[in-house]
Amino acid sequence: MSIASFKSANRLLTGQQASTRLAEEVMRLGMHSPMLVTDPGVLGSGTLEPIKAQLDDLKSRGHLTDYRIFSDVSAEPEVHIVEDCMSSYREGGCDSLIAVGGGSAMDIAKCVAVYATHDGDLESLFGENKARVRGAPLIAMPTTSGTGSEVTNIGILSDTEARMKKGIVNDYLLPDVAIVAPELTVSCPRHVTAASGVDALVHAIEAYLSNFATPITDALAIKAMRLIIKALPKAYANPADLKAREDMATGSLLAGMAFGNAGVGAVHALAYPLGGRYHLPHGVTNALLLPHVMRWNALACVERFRDIAEALDTSHRKLKDEATAELVVERLHKLCRDVDIPSGLRHFDIPEEDIPSLAADAFKVERLLRNNPRQLSQADIESIYRAAY
Ligand SMILES: NC(=O)c1ccc[n+]([C@@H]2O[C@H](COP(=O)([O-])OP(=O)(O)OC[C@H]3O[C@@H](n4cnc5c(N)ncnc54)[C@H](O)[C@@H]3O)[C@@H](O)[C@H]2O)c1
Ligand SMILES: [Fe+2]
Repeated sequence: MSIASFKSANRLLTGQQASTRLAEEVMRLGMHSPMLVTDPGVLGSGTLEPIKAQLDDLKSRGHLTDYRIFSDVSAEPEVHIVEDCMSSYREGGCDSLIAVGGGSAMDIAKCVAVYATHDGDLESLFGENKARVRGAPLIAMPTTSGTGSEVTNIGILSDTEARMKKGIVNDYLLPDVAIVAPELTVSCPRHVTAASGVDALVHAIEAYLSNFATPITDALAIKAMRLIIKALPKAYANPADLKAREDMATGSLLAGMAFGNAGVGAVHALAYPLGGRYHLPHGVTNALLLPHVMRWNALACVERFRDIAEALDTSHRKLKDEATAELVVERLHKLCRDVDIPSGLRHFDIPEEDIPSLAADAFKVERLLRNNPRQLSQADIESIYRAAY
């Protein structure tokens, strides 16, 4: 094994009611004038009220000069939202950020945290490791389970002109503190629970199959799979099931730590053009492709499929390799059906004639395709899209 590094948020707070510790962390990081980054759905759900109460209390005791709320984050946010958030941050004289939301709000806050201390324009941050200065202090509190963005060094934005998703990948994007509090996810709409939950499972599976997996990411990925496969249908069926919400929050955190280091693969690479062009939720695009990419990958890593089958609780008997892979694919299809995510690109008004150009765009996502255990040509990608149609 070659030398591997492992990165995560600097400090993690987990468990029921972890969100009540926000004030302590704000003080510990020496925040004086934070910007709270969220979105209209989270703002309207009431989930923010206890968080605002903590900040109001800090302000009344003189620990904060003030705080400002930026809530104009859309789902799958576009590049200009970073600029909008940055203007508000400057206007308010803010010195730090607290993200309370799903991947969309967390990614915006992460990008602004680095952009705020960066010399160049936003464009110059796209790609890998372009920022060279530590960003503003940042606390991330996920309200979905989830993207794992609270522990990754990635910020994903939609570029409407290029009709693609773009990434800022930089270790300075890693939050100082991640507060993974299941109570923040209870108000999550069911379709978001479903899509973001499948995203988390894909993170775990792709990290486990990645060419850059390590014993550390393997342990995290397998535990994440075990938690998510059981908890996701429960959290979907009964949004107030706190045990299921806690297992999902933990599963998504572990999956984030796994893929944040091992990377994700072809499911995500093929999902990007679908998200960029048709504005489908990230988790849904992953769900549409997952079984088909898995079927493709099976040949390259049969032993790993056996481990996945065990983690998903599908393989109690010793099966032939082919049968194991097929069981895994069937199990994933069933999970998506259980949480009402339709299978088939055709159900999302995606024109079949777009497939060749989608394949051309996905083939350019080299950053992720290099992690995938089985190589793909552009023609292979096209045939996977056709199978998923
Ligand atoms: N940075 C990373 O490592 C990483 C990883 C995976 C995905 N992503 C990105 O994350 C984004 C998707 O994030 P997401 O799946 O968490 O969804 P999201 O943040 O886009 O939220 C989806 C919707 O759910 C609502 N919502 C979220 N939590 C809620 C709550 N508790 N109560 C009420 N409403 C709530 C939001 O208002 C929004 O309308 C995509 O842009 C994707 O590309 C980033
Ligand atoms: Fe993802």
